[in-house]
Amino acid sequence: MTFVDVRDRYGITQVVFSNEIDAGLAEQANRLGREYVVEIEGDVKERSSKNANLPTGDVEVIATSVKVLNRSEIPPFTIEDNTDGGDDLRMKYRYLDLRRPMVRRNLELRHKMAFEIRRYLDSKGFLEIETPILVKSTPEGARDFVVPSRMNPGEFYALPQSPQLFKQLLMVSGFDRYFQIAKCFRDEDLRADRQPEFTQIDCEMSFVRQEDVIDMFEGLVKHIFKYVKGIDFTEPFERITWADAMARYGSDKPDKRFGMEFVELTDLAKGHGFSVVDDAELTVGIAVPGAAGYTRKQLDELTEFVRRPQVGAKGLMWVKFEENGAVKSSVGKFYDEATLRAWGEKAGAKAGDLLLVMSGEAMKTRKQLCELRLEMGNRLGLRDKNVFAPLWVIDFPLFEWDEETQRYYAMHHPFTSPNPDDIPLLHSDTGKVRATAYDIVVNGTELGGGSIRIHDAELQDTMFELLGFTPERAQEQFGFLMEAFKYGAPPHGGLALGFDRFVSILAGLDTIRDVIAFPKNNSGRDVMNESPSPIDQAQLDELQIALAPAGDK
Ligand code: AMO
Repeated sequence: MTFVDVRDRYGITQVVFSNEIDAGLAEQANRLGREYVVEIEGDVKERSSKNANLPTGDVEVIATSVKVLNRSEIPPFTIEDNTDGGDDLRMKYRYLDLRRPMVRRNLELRHKMAFEIRRYLDSKGFLEIETPILVKSTPEGARDFVVPSRMNPGEFYALPQSPQLFKQLLMVSGFDRYFQIAKCFRDEDLRADRQPEFTQIDCEMSFVRQEDVIDMFEGLVKHIFKYVKGIDFTEPFERITWADAMARYGSDKPDKRFGMEFVELTDLAKGHGFSVVDDAELTVGIAVPGAAGYTRKQLDELTEFVRRPQVGAKGLMWVKFEENGAVKSSVGKFYDEATLRAWGEKAGAKAGDLLLVMSGEAMKTRKQLCELRLEMGNRLGLRDKNVFAPLWVIDFPLFEWDEETQRYYAMHHPFTSPNPDDIPLLHSDTGKVRATAYDIVVNGTELGGGSIRIHDAELQDTMFELLGFTPERAQEQFGFLMEAFKYGAPPHGGLALGFDRFVSILAGLDTIRDVIAFPKNNSGRDVMNESPSPIDQAQLDELQIALAPAGDK
């Protein structure tokens, strides 16, 4: 008997060639190689020894003929879920990688989600409208990818960072419910959840308030979880303010699969002669359940962790509340047991828990403790990929101060409207103004974000002024939008969900690369087709582009 596993999009089927039935056929089967494309005829039979691990494990095909439709070279890595191929090799031969069942399943999931998104939004009266890919370069946060124009030498299009301005124009045009599964392009540093080209579920609605947008897209997210994943969220998603998220989790995208909320210990900790704490703006901690047994080595590891340049803290304090009631601490020199117990009480630490504490400048320290909280979540196995904790973060600040350039930037984008209650503060207390902006967060990832937009020309002018745009520059960059707003723009708002991120969260993956058929690597390269690549001199000439000599900037 010769057994051959035949794989197609739907799975693996075992084919049996029997010497007894046809010796010549069995001989042919022995000459088949890995990844050959074959046509086999035969009878489907129930197997005597079934394989419960395979969907097709109950049956086999008893072959009566075999034809080789195409041969294959030996593939550079094993095409199985458990492959011997490293990342680079699999990216170079991505079309082979895509034959692996787990990668294929991710694309099937992606398809199913796109389908359900369209079904939900169509049922709510949204129209899917495409917007251009060759657009005007406008500052939107990241760098633009630019495209030269042959017909307009010396001039460039940009690839859209998002369809933001076009969707707002569609609102002016009266399409009161728009969506698009849109390709977006951003020339920014890449991370596990960032690609230079990615896809948004981009949406906009007219005559809405923040509540309406949140309700509509919470409905979409629930619909997807229900119909794609079989998970029914019956309760409304939690909403927390940005200020609260920062104070309780040190992050505007808190992972709520586990607790370990921050507790501020500044007042309790100051005034005991420990200068690190006494000089600090904030002292804040987390109670780690059941970790009082951490050894010296493990605690040193945590200190090393927070000192890594990616986290950037100077050090870490710890207090162990041991099972037997003893209290031990790295700062026992400065604090007596009663004080340390008071910290523990405030932090809700029980016997057996470990309190980890950091001090420093408020925002920096919160962000550092956030990294440690996530690390502890990982170490304690609390970040289960099959658990989903969605929430909304609302009331973002409208502006972000940049130390380097000494000016304000829009935290979301320049068209985000201020919270109406804060409009009087625009000039007097600019940094305090809250935006009507919201993010949806799942498991510590920003899944999407949006805002209610400014539809009033005067308020928009004020925004531009506060963001340091001269009227001329605002006109040059956004004149077409300002012009459109003169002709009866409805109040409007919307949001965009990162589609790749959404798929990867549902697939339980750490990177969005595996939910994209042909992704780029971390240097923004497609190693399969070797792009980006130089272009011919003739092409450059036609575009009237001269390259600076290598090394010149
Ligand atoms: P924003 O810039 O927050 O908003 O983007 C919306 C969502 O898109 C996803 N995303 C990315 N995914 C993969 N790779 C990237 N490089 C990348 N950048 C962003 C994230 C993010 O939450 N026009 C506004 C939306 C609006 O106001 O309506 C916008 O683009 O999941």
